[in-house]
Amino acid sequence: MENFFIKSRAHDYEVRFEDSFANSVKRAADSQRNFLLADKKVYALYPNAFKGLFDSQDIYLVEALESNKSYEALVPLFEWLLRQNFRKDCKLVVVGGGVTQDMGAFVANLLLRGVRWSLVPTTLLAQGDSCIGSKSSINFGSFKNQLGYFYPPHSVHLCYEVLGTLSDDDWNSGLGEIVKLAIIAGESSFSRAMDVFSDAQARKPVVMELIRDTLLIKKDFIERDELDVGPRRLLNFGHTFGHAYESATNYQIPHGVAVAIGMGNAAFVSQKLGMLPEEQFKLVWSTLEPLTKQFLVQLFAIDMRTIASAIQRDKKNTSNKINCILLSGVGKLEIRPLSLQEDVLPLIEGFLNWIKAQDNQSRSLR
Ligand SMILES: NC(=O)c1ccc[n+]([C@@H]2O[C@H](COP(=O)([O-])OP(=O)(O)OC[C@H]3O[C@@H](n4cnc5c(N)ncnc54)[C@H](O)[C@@H]3O)[C@@H](O)[C@H]2O)c1
Repeated sequence: MENFFIKSRAHDYEVRFEDSFANSVKRAADSQRNFLLADKKVYALYPNAFKGLFDSQDIYLVEALESNKSYEALVPLFEWLLRQNFRKDCKLVVVGGGVTQDMGAFVANLLLRGVRWSLVPTTLLAQGDSCIGSKSSINFGSFKNQLGYFYPPHSVHLCYEVLGTLSDDDWNSGLGEIVKLAIIAGESSFSRAMDVFSDAQARKPVVMELIRDTLLIKKDFIERDELDVGPRRLLNFGHTFGHAYESATNYQIPHGVAVAIGMGNAAFVSQKLGMLPEEQFKLVWSTLEPLTKQFLVQLFAIDMRTIASAIQRDKKNTSNKINCILLSGVGKLEIRPLSLQEDVLPLIEGFLNWIKAQDNQSRSLR
């Protein structure tokens, strides 16, 4: 598969498709002295991929928990890098999913006013979405992704092999973000993605083509608006509702699944406000619904007050309006400020009741 470059204010960087996980890590570790920040689980699953590339004192393993994407959890990481005498000619190699990536990006951005780092994303979500775009946000207390800036890696290394050990939930989470980009891009990207979607759900290697297509859609947005003040804001489709579902369930719903539910909710709101025809809403939801099935129990247990406080914390909102990304069709998105009390909360409740009714109906038919 053909590699490509991303243009960034900080530095351009290459997205490479590698033939194995070992070669991904090897290519990323191309400095005289390389430090490894890796997801503990991935390191244990693929020990041979790291052999001979890092001194044992230059390896730092983390658990991929939202609580580790925090200022407190990063203090020992900064301490370790400084004690090990990380200098400008060293490189930080970050291996893991979105949590490890965000920790690594944040640290690489601040250490010595910015150091070289390379990323080997190991989840479908990280390969198909987060690995490009420069965002380096961490959580602050219960406030999700509120601290950070934009600092891209110096190279990204993708491969199919490492995706083989992902859980079904994390696979579906990645597909959630991939479908998001296909919906944003328009009819032809959406139908192209849908052509291979069932193969991707069945975890076939064709997913790498879907990943490449998806990253190219994102590339177009981030190269025009890296700092997320213009057109890139549309990439937050599903996130206002999704982040609220994620935090209201204490992160029991994986990020991309929460985004899939959030996109369904945004489509429902769009339909209720008369923007989106009902059959289009149903088409969008029929694509997203299979990704969300495992999490209906958590969804139905959500208390509306928790949702209300979670949604108000979203950094994309102004103080009294919720900026919702709505759609009038595939590829036709717009940002609309809506009132929390009058529009957003009743329509979240309406959406949850609608899903509940659908679920009851399908149970009674079984
Ligand atoms: N920076 C960005 O642009 C951006 C974009 C989207 C999401 N995010 C963030 O990404 C995070 C979610 O990331 P994620 O979905 O990649 O999950 P993750 O990093 O939380 O990993 C999910 C689970 O998969 C495991 N895992 C990772 N790779 C594996 C592999 N190859 N085999 C088996 N298990 C593996 C992890 O240990 C963890 O248990 C959220 O914090 C979200 O806010 C960041």
